[in-house]
Amino acid sequence: MSASRRFRVLVLGGSTEAFDLAEQLAGDTEVEAITAMAGVTRERRAVPGHVRIGGFGGPEGLAAWLGAERIDAVVDSTHPFARQMTANAAQAATTAKVPIIHVLRPPWVAQAGDDWREVDDMAAAAAAVPASPCFLTVGRTELAPFATRTDVAFVARVIDRPDPAPDFTYVEARGPFVLADELALLERHGIRSIVTKNSGGRAAEAKLVAARQLGLPVVMVRRPAPPAGATVPGAAAALGWIRGLKHA
Ligand SMILES: NC(=O)c1ccc[n+]([C@@H]2O[C@H](COP(=O)([O-])OP(=O)(O)OC[C@H]3O[C@@H](n4cnc5c(N)ncnc54)[C@H](OP(=O)(O)O)[C@@H]3O)[C@@H](O)[C@H]2O)c1
Repeated sequence: MSASRRFRVLVLGGSTEAFDLAEQLAGDTEVEAITAMAGVTRERRAVPGHVRIGGFGGPEGLAAWLGAERIDAVVDSTHPFARQMTANAAQAATTAKVPIIHVLRPPWVAQAGDDWREVDDMAAAAAAVPASPCFLTVGRTELAPFATRTDVAFVARVIDRPDPAPDFTYVEARGPFVLADELALLERHGIRSIVTKNSGGRAAEAKLVAARQLGLPVVMVRRPAPPAGATVPGAAAALGWIRGLKHA
């Protein structure tokens, strides 16, 4: 690498950690970060630095892009439930011979007072909903299995309302969420159960504290299997990995 060329890092985004990394690398004189976003939500949070919107065309497309853009390292900082992109990134990095790290924040862990019913997927989550009305926070693309529960009234929180939309009540909002607002929302809708994915992290954790305080059951969808490659728990560790590679 020439002395003047910055170390080029592709950050696969869509998470708080990717945003934090972009913020920490904005204006860095040694490292140039390009944050890639799928472009699935209508209104995106403004990410500092270079941003690329849209898919790469599978692992082959991504491998070709890494080579063409002379990327030195990949940070897969997608959401813990973005299974496809994580698998694609691992495969593409191997093909293109580019080092990769996966950012995997710790999952939430049930605490004293929690009433969690853990399940493996959305179909099992829909079957397990114990009481109506139910607050659904699984993302707008995962709502279909719940429409089969015609005995349950659902209040679904989504960033963008889906189209077509199951006959639910919708709350359009983007985190982070705070406890007082979560308590107010649950009480306003008379919520008696919650379904969520085990995303982990702080931004969406308040609903679990609210559920604990109100004694509500939570159907918790377990995480998919973690990636086989190396992982770090957050943006600071990913930054350390980048700097280590840069100076190796
Ligand atoms: N799944 C969740 O619960 C969840 C929650 C919050 C945020 N997100 C974020 O939303 C995005 C989509 O999630 P998903 O679960 O639908 O993904 P996914 O199923 O793992 O990926 C589907 C396809 O979307 C494209 N893609 C995904 N992430 C991308 C990225 N960061 N940059 C460019 N292309 C990307 C890829 O298309 P190509 O094959 O064409 O490259 C990928 O094959 C991700 O960035 C994820 O971090 C997901």
